[in-house]
This record gives sequence, structure tokens and C-alpha cells, in this order.
Amino acid sequence: MKNLIYDLKINKNLKDDELIELLETDIYDDKLHMAADEIRRMNYKDEVYIRGLIEFTNYCKNDCYYCGIRKSNIKSERYRLSKKDILKCCENGYKLGYRTFVLQGGEDPYYTDDLICEIVSEINKSYSDCAITLSIGEKSFESYKRYFDSGARRFLLRHETADDEHYSKLHPDSMSLDNRKRCLFDLKKIGYQVGSGFMVGSPYQTTQNLVADLRFLQELKPDMIGIGPYINHKDTPFSGKENGTLELTLKLVSILRLMFPYALIPSTTALGTISPLGRELGLKSGANVVMPNLSPVETRKKYDLYENKICTGEEAAECRGCLERRVEIAGYRIVTNIGDVKKHA
Ligand code: 5AD
Ligand code: FES
Repeated sequence: MKNLIYDLKINKNLKDDELIELLETDIYDDKLHMAADEIRRMNYKDEVYIRGLIEFTNYCKNDCYYCGIRKSNIKSERYRLSKKDILKCCENGYKLGYRTFVLQGGEDPYYTDDLICEIVSEINKSYSDCAITLSIGEKSFESYKRYFDSGARRFLLRHETADDEHYSKLHPDSMSLDNRKRCLFDLKKIGYQVGSGFMVGSPYQTTQNLVADLRFLQELKPDMIGIGPYINHKDTPFSGKENGTLELTLKLVSILRLMFPYALIPSTTALGTISPLGRELGLKSGANVVMPNLSPVETRKKYDLYENKICTGEEAAECRGCLERRVEIAGYRIVTNIGDVKKHA
């Protein structure tokens, strides 16, 4: 029998039917995670990069069927952080050793391009040894370029699913996979370090869809790949749909590590939400980044993309300490440098 894990490790690729076999049978799991860990250690040793996440607005003009902060969720208590609030989060984060700030929010027109640029420049001025990452959704080439010129160097935008039909089951007609892809390629063209990714076990997802996700990522060659299990939110049209599983998410983390040895792969909050040791297992399966929350405790619960999100009652310093211990117990070490991606093809 062909050794799928060996082939994947050596060739960084498999045929579609081989990927499907790997994804659909669990006999390979332990070996797969071990191979992924070996490759992550070859590239990144035992280092884990930290990114301070600032969730600065939960207003959103979009209506994605899976997301708790979709515009039609009238139960969501909306909030916005001012420039001053955001800078305070950075100040706090800087003291805790963060050298990357991720500004994430819903697609909120209140934050005009001028305002985003103002915020980015100010952070850049005050913390010139830090990287600024934006995660604010779909914009025009011109807008992305303006943010870049103001000092943003990284951008996170998950493609969510690379299959058109599946995309249309997760999003209203006003959104399209084509535009999503256009955004990602624009970001690359401008010179951003780009992060993309998808949800695992989202409603209607097939194994074939997951293969399409991997193929799309091979085409995009992102620097960062974020995945997490889909988690139900009761105030969305997907209320009551099943969550993605820990096992399949970990398997995909390992496959991603073997296909993209250089990549920054976060062990996500969603992984820690479906299982108490989810983030530790994510690291052991090939992930090398964690993104603790720097948002003010008063607003954290309101950024509820999905239910029972962890870390909503903790102060930034508590999460920092908690993760330090968790990462160590898993057998790795948090480093506080800027954490750039290693060079890749
Ligand atoms: N479950 C898991 N992940 C979700 N996201 C949004 N809603 C959910 C959910 N219900 C993810 C999306 C988005 C990222 C910020 O959070 O993939 O890109
Ligand atoms: Fe937030 Fe553990 S990381 S409490």
C-alpha cells in the first residue's frame, strides 16, 4: 500500500483521491500529527509566535449565515472602539511582549479608509518595531493600497470555502467567492503578507470541498493559514447545525503543515472552544502561532462569532500568562519577536 503520509511529507502534495482517503479515515492520525510536528520543528524549532488580537468593532454590513455578528442578528449588542481605545490595547499588549497587533472587526463603514489609515499610522508611529495586521474584510484595491501605505503589512481574510456552490450556501447573494479571491490576490499584489483559511465542518461542507480549499491555498500561497472548527451560533440561520470536530480540524492542521512547511498556522480560539485542550493539540499537530485577545474585557463577550467562545472574561495579561503555560506544557515556547514567515517558494 502507498504510504500517504510519507508521500505528503516528501512531495508536499497528494492526488485528490489520496487526500480524500487521508481525510476520511482515522487510522493515519497519530503518524500524520507526528510527521507534521517533525516538519514544523525543522522550520520553526519549538517556537510559537504570538499575535495580539484587538476586536475593535462588531458592527458588520454583511450577513454570513454562520456568523454571530451578522447584520441581521438584532440580539447582538454592538460596540466600537475609538482610536484611543485601540491604542490603549496596543500599549497594554506591548508591555506584555506583543510585537504584532491584529486589528479585526466586522465590515463596518463607520471606519472609513481615512480613519483606518489614521489608526494604522498612529500605531506605526508609536510602535515602530511592531507589525500591524488588518482583518477587516473585503475592500477595493485602492483601499488596501492606502492601508499598506499607512504602514499595515499583513492582512487576514479567510476564503471560508473555495467551492462556489458551497460558498453560496454559507453567504447571501450579495457576496461572492470571486470577489473574495480578487481581494486575496490584490493583497498579495500590493505586497502584504497574506493570511487565508477556512472553517472545518461548516454546514454542507463535503470532503471534496476541503480538497478544493487545499488546492486554492496551493494557488494563493499565503503566508498564514488559519482554520478552525465551525461552531454553532443560535441567533443565526444555521442555528442548531452541528459543530465541526476537533479530530478533523487537527487532521487538517497537520495536512496543511506538510503541504505548506513554511506557513504560519495559528492554533485558533475556535479550536480551544470546542475542546479544553484544543489549542495545545493544535500546536502538537503542526500549528505555530497563537492569537490571544487584547480587546478590553468589557467588549469581549460581544464579539461572539460563535457560542461559548473562550477567554471572554479574562484580562489581556491573564490570557498571556495562561497561554505561556499551555504552550510550555504542550512542549513549545512562546517567543516575542515580530514573527515573520520563513521564506517560501
Ligand atoms: N464558527 C467558527 N468560526 C467562525 N467564523 C465566523 N463565524 C464562525 C462560526 N460560527 C470565523 C470565520 C471568519 C473568522 C474571523 O471567524 O472563518 O473568517
Ligand atoms: Fe485566555 Fe487561557 S488564553 S484564559
